[in-house]
Amino acid sequence: MKNIVILISGAGSNMAAIVQAARQEQWAQRLNVRVAAVISNKADATGLAWAQAQGMATAVLNHQGFASREAFDTALMAEIDRFAPDLLVLAGFMRILTPGFVAHYAGRLLNVHPSLLPAFPGLNTHQRAIDAGCQFAGATVHQVTADLDHGPILAQAVVPVLTGDTADTLAARVLTQEHIIYPLAVAEFLRGLP
Ligand code: GAR
Repeated sequence: MKNIVILISGAGSNMAAIVQAARQEQWAQRLNVRVAAVISNKADATGLAWAQAQGMATAVLNHQGFASREAFDTALMAEIDRFAPDLLVLAGFMRILTPGFVAHYAGRLLNVHPSLLPAFPGLNTHQRAIDAGCQFAGATVHQVTADLDHGPILAQAVVPVLTGDTADTLAARVLTQEHIIYPLAVAEFLRGLP
């Protein structure tokens, strides 16, 4: 059985979408894979409570307790590797990763980003898209490389930017699409793993 480990920092709605897709589409039987654990860098992440309520294995590693980014990532790797991940899924995990962390999970590390990459890497993607006068926005699932928000693209979804949109209304429209493309892209990626 292959293991997916999912990292979150907040609401965890993408994580929940993947967990629900795994159940509904019977990934265990059809893809020989399960979501083995959900790990958060924030103890109060609401997605963590959801995962616990589902009876899933969860863990918390607060980055604030560490002297450096490297020290945190080293401890996080140890925590993740307890679950022997074949695939590590970033789902609203709001941390910049060290090169050592990315190298450790090379080829088995995915992220969802709330823009049509390569446009708008980084933060505040929705406000930046509105400010730039974009008529379309969207989300991207990509492989993670050392170059922030620039790895090979696996899936994208496009939404219109509507008159009167705020960052929040646009984010909500994009998020509904993330919930569709992320589980699809994860399943597709798993089919391609040895
Ligand atoms: C999602 O919109 C995701 O694309 C974004 O955070 C949100 C998390 O929502 N990720 C990033 O901005 C990564 N840089 P969720 O916790 O409900 O899945």
